[in-house]
Parts: sequence; structure tokens; C-alpha cells
Amino acid sequence: MRGTRVEIRTAALAHNAGRARRLAGDAELFAMVKANGYGHGLLTAAQAMAPAVEGFGVAVMEEAVALRDSGIAGPILVAEGFFDADELEHARRRSLEVVVHSLWQVQLLLAKPAPTRIWLKLNTGMNRLGLRPEWALQAAEQLAAAGMKPLGIMSHFACADDATDSVSEKQLLLAAEVAQRLQLPLSTANSAALIRYPHARGQRVRPGIMLYGSSPFDWQSASELDLQVSHRFSARLIAINEIQPGESVGYGATWTAARAGRVGVVAVGYGDGYPRHAPSGTPVAVNGQPTILVGRVSMDMLTIDLNGIDAQVGDEVELWGDAVAVDAVAKACGTISYELFCQITARPARIVV
Ligand SMILES: Cc1ncc(COP(=O)(O)O)c(C=O)c1O
Repeated sequence: MRGTRVEIRTAALAHNAGRARRLAGDAELFAMVKANGYGHGLLTAAQAMAPAVEGFGVAVMEEAVALRDSGIAGPILVAEGFFDADELEHARRRSLEVVVHSLWQVQLLLAKPAPTRIWLKLNTGMNRLGLRPEWALQAAEQLAAAGMKPLGIMSHFACADDATDSVSEKQLLLAAEVAQRLQLPLSTANSAALIRYPHARGQRVRPGIMLYGSSPFDWQSASELDLQVSHRFSARLIAINEIQPGESVGYGATWTAARAGRVGVVAVGYGDGYPRHAPSGTPVAVNGQPTILVGRVSMDMLTIDLNGIDAQVGDEVELWGDAVAVDAVAKACGTISYELFCQITARPARIVV
């Protein structure tokens, strides 16, 4: 058995959801489970967190339909709403909550008025999805006149995870003003805002990454935030090579040994979703002992420094999880844990515990 695997820990997901539940206070807690539950498995994640949450958030209709048809009966918010009239019908039939972010969606709704669960999305400065406030006010009026009064107003923060964030406060003020004028509930908070800005909770919060045991901040670790590891990626050593000073390792000969030593070959590569751009120096652990990646990651293998490490062929190497924080790997790779979780391929075994 190759032994390359991702372990998904449902108890950790439940713990992290409980943590978000406490931070949410009186607000509704909607757990974001888009992109296959941030790579944890859509239904696995949803079922593990269900006792702590009031609803789930996904990005697209296929995810919402999959959740609903798997027996998730409660509220499901579709963050990109419907893409066409067909999808609007799916949403209506399954009582899904659709985010309306553009005027073309308002036109589709008005073309065929019918009861629809709508959250109106405001652009408050991220300039990605959302209606500008004056358009949102007008859309809300038109929808209400056609019997489709929105359930609430939502917006998304651009910089809530930045140490020097000076944007969220302005975004919040703008969103709160529109919600106040329309007398509608407000939802703005992602994980970073939920943890950091209690006054931004509004009536509904929508955390994602914190539920999966990763910190939204680079100045505070997941364990400092009392979040538990829910995703552990590991593989086995399949060869150990003696190497002489001046010899290099792997494609492109990007790493050269400064001294004699041992290099371990690990049965995992970008074909499993380990990032190819992970540089030499990226942390890994062998039997709990910290060491580093050396040389270029290939499709099915990567190589690690075994100097001073007690290791045999067949031993387990942790790519991220308990001994190696996913956030540390993400930082070394110049990315974020979200991407590492999402890009695991179908090849590694997936073990749900
Ligand atoms: C609309 C929306 N709300 C909430 C979230 C959750 O954000 P995070 O995972 O940073 O908590 C996302 C994720 O990007 C999102 O797109």
C-alpha cells in the first residue's frame, strides 16, 4: 500500500464549529462548506458541523443541490446565486437562499415573480460581486413590490485578515446603513471578522477557514485561536539515498548537498495535490521529527532532508497536520491554506475519522 492519505477529523470540525458558535453570540452561524467543504468533503463537513450551525453556505448551485439532495434540510445559502433561469427554478424548488449580486439577476427574478429566498449582496468596496448601495435600495424596492422581499443584506470584507486593515470599518458602515434603511438583517463576517470584529457580527456570520483548523491571521496560530487540526496529509518514505557534497537532487538540480548526508524519497507529489512550487526548506515531519523539503516536487514524489533524523523506509512523513501546521506550509509556498486544502486530488486515500 502506497499509504498516501488525507485524514479528515470530524471531531475537530465539530470543535471548530463550536468555537465559531460561541463567537457568533446571538447571530446565526452559517458554515461555509463551498469547494467540497474546503477540501474536507461537502457532506462530511456539513454533517460534522450541523449540530453547531443554523445553516450552510456554498458558492454554486451544484453544491447546494448536492447538500439538499443528501438530506441537509435546513437553510443553504448560495453565495454566487443563480447563473440562469434554470438554476433559479432549482433554487425555488429546493427552498435555497440565493445571493443576488447583479442587476441581471434582479431582471430574471422580476421576469417570473415567485416566492424566492433572497439575500441582496452589496458591493461595499471589494469591487468583486455586489450591487452598489443606490442600486441595492432600488432593487430591494422592486423585488418587494413583486412579492420577493429580500431576507437580508450581505457584503464581504476585502481585508479583514490584514494586520493593517483600514478597509473593513468603512465597508461595515456602508453595509449597516443600507440594512438599516431597508430594515433588513445584515451579514458581513467571514472567519477573520468573526474573531476580530465582534461589532461586525450582525444577524448572520459566515466563517469558513477557521472551521477547518486554520488561522485567518499570520500573527496568530490556529492553536492559539483554540482551533483543532481537521485535515492531515501524510505519505510514506519509499527510499533513502546517501548523498555526497556537491550532488544535487531532483528535476532541474535546484538543490545541492553542502555535506554528505541522507535524502528521503516520499511517495507524494503534485499528482496528489502537494504544491509543485513548494520551495526547498518547506517544513515536513518524519515520525514527528521536523525537517525540510529539498529539491523540486515532482508528480509522484518529493525529497526531504534526513540528516539527524531517525527514519526508515516505510516510515510516515507528515506534509501537514499535527507536527507541521498547514499555515506554515502555506506560508513557505507563498499561498494560503485554503488553496492547499482545495487542491488535493482524487488520488490520495481519504480517511474520515
Ligand atoms: C461570501 C463569502 N462569505 C464567507 C466566506 C468565508 O471566508 P473565510 O473562509 O475567510 O472565513 C467566503 C469565502 O471566501 C465567501 O466567499
